[in-house]
Amino acid sequence: MRTGVNPLIVGNWKMYKTRDESVAFVSALPDALPEDPPGVWIAPSFTSIHAAAEAAEGSSIVIGAQNMWFEDNGAFTGEISGRMLVDAGAQFVILGHSERRQLFHESNELVQAKVKKALAVGLKVIVCVGETDAEREQGKAFEVLETQIKACLAQIEPDESTIVLAYEPVWAIGTGKAATPEMAQEMHRHCREVLKKVWGGKISEKILILYGGSVKTDNAPFLLKQPDIDGLLIGGASLSLENFSKIINDSSILVSESKRMSGL
Ligand code: 13P
Repeated sequence: MRTGVNPLIVGNWKMYKTRDESVAFVSALPDALPEDPPGVWIAPSFTSIHAAAEAAEGSSIVIGAQNMWFEDNGAFTGEISGRMLVDAGAQFVILGHSERRQLFHESNELVQAKVKKALAVGLKVIVCVGETDAEREQGKAFEVLETQIKACLAQIEPDESTIVLAYEPVWAIGTGKAATPEMAQEMHRHCREVLKKVWGGKISEKILILYGGSVKTDNAPFLLKQPDIDGLLIGGASLSLENFSKIINDSSILVSESKRMSGL
């Protein structure tokens, strides 16, 4: 986290929580937030988006989706378009999550098509990249990230207000084995260097890059202290109001500390 950057804390609820459970969480969260909270986004299941967005009205919580298809309408059984997400109250969508890439065989090209459409319909996007265990062991982590970032974003008009990148090493997701803060910092710096090649220096410094993969209450502040980690994309720990709000409150304390230390 760099001074002057408001961190973004995102909960990816994956295939958890019914509509009632989502509404109860989103309704209770504002009371557990600090006075000056960081960005707080939540991606519930498709069936909970509308109700969660209604529950979030009047608060700073932003509701989004975990995936979408890149066409507006058509014979795509089981799919949901960006327009439909906007209609349901979603303001952002997570694209290219490693679970989509691995379990549903999503390619970089498909992710880029989805990014284009999501931005065209007015959604913000969180684009996920990350290497597998095997790729890291073979020394290919940097190369994999570069390929993913270029192939998902090269044709996209840069805009730091609508595009967020998330580095989620696949080996860290749901395993309890998070990247160390130093390791994550190294990879985030690399992501920024690649963004610089794709979009130029100015914009690459402005784009928020989130870390995801076994973020918990105890490692979140250490990850956020790294200069190129601008926020967190949280799975398991975002399902608990207590844990999620603790991470948010701790990040708000870090922001105040960093402002105080730099005399802002
Ligand atoms: P965990 O925090 O459960 O490891 O999940 C991370 C993730 O996939 C967020 O998108």
